[in-house]
Amino acid sequence: MIVGIVIAILVGMMIVTGLHWAAMPPSRVETVDVKTLHIKGEFVESNLGTALEDDGKVVVRVLAQQYSFQPQCLVVPAGMPVTFRGTSSDAIHGFVVGASNANAMLIPGFIATFTTTFRRPGEHLMPCHEYCGTGHEAMWARVQVISQQEFLERIRDTRRLSCVRS
Ligand code: CUA
Repeated sequence: MIVGIVIAILVGMMIVTGLHWAAMPPSRVETVDVKTLHIKGEFVESNLGTALEDDGKVVVRVLAQQYSFQPQCLVVPAGMPVTFRGTSSDAIHGFVVGASNANAMLIPGFIATFTTTFRRPGEHLMPCHEYCGTGHEAMWARVQVISQQEFLERIRDTRRLSCVRS
């Protein structure tokens, strides 16, 4: 009897959650054309990296491809919300930044977005965490978290910030 009740509860949970997720599509889906990714739009090479948008938001644009991230090194400020926007031009990739909660899956044709705040300055590794082929384990980038003051000073004169100091 007890086993029967447990099984009934579990099956009931499966039906309820299955119907729930089927009835509620993802809140936002943003798509991008993989074929023109490198030629025009948001993910052209000159637009990748960290930008301070006109509305004062910090946006990092990342492109993943077998087997590297573009750019290979990101600079972000500490103590400010940072919005990541990323996509892939070939296989499914993903990334996680150090021990932070920055974590995303990059799927060709879709734009992944999330916002996070890095508390302290420091340097993190950003490995690809979805198996994407033979070069998967060599696919990673670096993230430099610098103080808000230094970030605002360095980004003032350039539209895009990179790890290379000019
Ligand atoms: Cu890219 Cu694994």
